[in-house]
Amino acid sequence: MKGIILSGGTATRLFPLTATTSKQLLPVYDRQMIFYPLNTLIKAGIKDILIIVAPEHSGQYLNLLGSIFEKYDIRIDFKVQKLPKGLAEAFVLGEEFIDKGNVAMILGDNIFEDDFSTDIKNFKSGGKIFAKKVPDPERYGVVKFDENNKAVEIVEKPENWISDYAIPGLYIFDNRVSDAAKNVTPSERGEKEITSLHNYYLEKGELEVSTFSGAWLDAGTFDTLLEAGNIVKEKEIYKKFDPIIDKAILEFNEELKAIAKKRLI
Ligand code: TTP
Repeated sequence: MKGIILSGGTATRLFPLTATTSKQLLPVYDRQMIFYPLNTLIKAGIKDILIIVAPEHSGQYLNLLGSIFEKYDIRIDFKVQKLPKGLAEAFVLGEEFIDKGNVAMILGDNIFEDDFSTDIKNFKSGGKIFAKKVPDPERYGVVKFDENNKAVEIVEKPENWISDYAIPGLYIFDNRVSDAAKNVTPSERGEKEITSLHNYYLEKGELEVSTFSGAWLDAGTFDTLLEAGNIVKEKEIYKKFDPIIDKAILEFNEELKAIAKKRLI
């Protein structure tokens, strides 16, 4: 299993904060946002991670993550997405990286309280996504279940209500996903929609959808960014990180302190 973090985009809803940095490098409590999706993947034992970034921020990502996991046998690769052409493009850009294996893709601004390690580790083939009941499903890709809790319909930002279950930004697919993504026709807003890939597997009867109840934060607005920091603190999510990440951050901080000290002398 390989991991992809989709961390590009334009983050217009966070202007002007994102005029100077990437949304996913903004702080959520005591660490950059990107560490939360990294934690979801690293906790599940994933050792090969591709981070897809916008061109203007690639240097900042390299500074932060270019080498901090080296001694922990976790390899981070970077790929630039020139224009934000949609979530499904992650699998086109990541085709060579995914190669013959399976892949877990997570959005760089999604923060989960729950641990999805078992789902990621037990995944065999097809597609696996998740669903959470929300008060405002029209903002998301939405999944409708039948009376046996089987997913029957998936719609991107439905104008007419079909269900309260939103699909958060964690998706597990087998490697057919890259070819499927290449064949996705962009929607009216010019994006290759991830729901097209969900429907590709749903139509084949190979999509599993599991509900969960823990906190899920999509930190893309001022309010949700603030809420994310508060929930991370209240629920002590920052204390439940994989030890590898905590150690890597600590060592990185020590390195930064040593450099700062030298500059003062
Ligand atoms: P969005 O929040 O939908 O888009 P955005 O981050 O550009 O923000 P805004 O709507 O405020 O302009 O994206 C969800 C996540 O996916 C986020 O982490 C950015 C990432 N993304 C890409 O990396 N490439 C893309 O082409 C798109 C559409 C999103």
